[in-house]
Amino acid sequence: MEPIFIGKGIEYRKEFENYVQILKERLTEKRFYHSLAVAKEALRLAEKYGCDAKKAFLAGLLHDICKDDDPNLQLQLFGEFGIILDTVEKKARKLWHAIAGAAYIKEKLLLNDEEIISAVRYHTTARKGMSLLEKILYLADFTSEDRDYDGVDDMRRAVDVSLEHAMREALIFTVVDLTEKGMPVHSDTMEAYREIVK
Ligand SMILES: [Fe+2]
Ligand SMILES: [Fe+2]
Repeated sequence: MEPIFIGKGIEYRKEFENYVQILKERLTEKRFYHSLAVAKEALRLAEKYGCDAKKAFLAGLLHDICKDDDPNLQLQLFGEFGIILDTVEKKARKLWHAIAGAAYIKEKLLLNDEEIISAVRYHTTARKGMSLLEKILYLADFTSEDRDYDGVDDMRRAVDVSLEHAMREALIFTVVDLTEKGMPVHSDTMEAYREIVK
């Protein structure tokens, strides 16, 4: 099952067939659908907000490429690619797929596009001084058509108002949600929060 693509999405879906096949092998069915849905939403936002549509599609497509990997495999990738986690990152397993994904795209898929790589790297935490592409991927992950959580309708409305407004809403949502669950908030997220929410 795949989302129904429209416009440029039809073209890019065909163009990146090789990556789609890799995702199909690496991901669960649900995550595979999610990845294509985020690609579709990232493309829509890129066209709306004047970002490179093809890069946004590709970043969306690949952003969770390591999410269904066993944590031990992710650790193995870090070793292989010489990535050293800091003490916070070591404890934040949810973050590993973003770090591993960025490295995988670069080292295994040999996709040498630093903008896409950093969008994937920061799609979970956000960070201070985000690029347009980074914001679009971060938000598309909240508003793709497969997403279903309390507040998703508000987020979908926010993302059509403006990127800045949606970033504020998404960061407030994340910080409140993590705090309510008693989970630590990553310093990159706090820095983004301080910069954007104020
Ligand atoms: Fe993710
Ligand atoms: Fe995702």
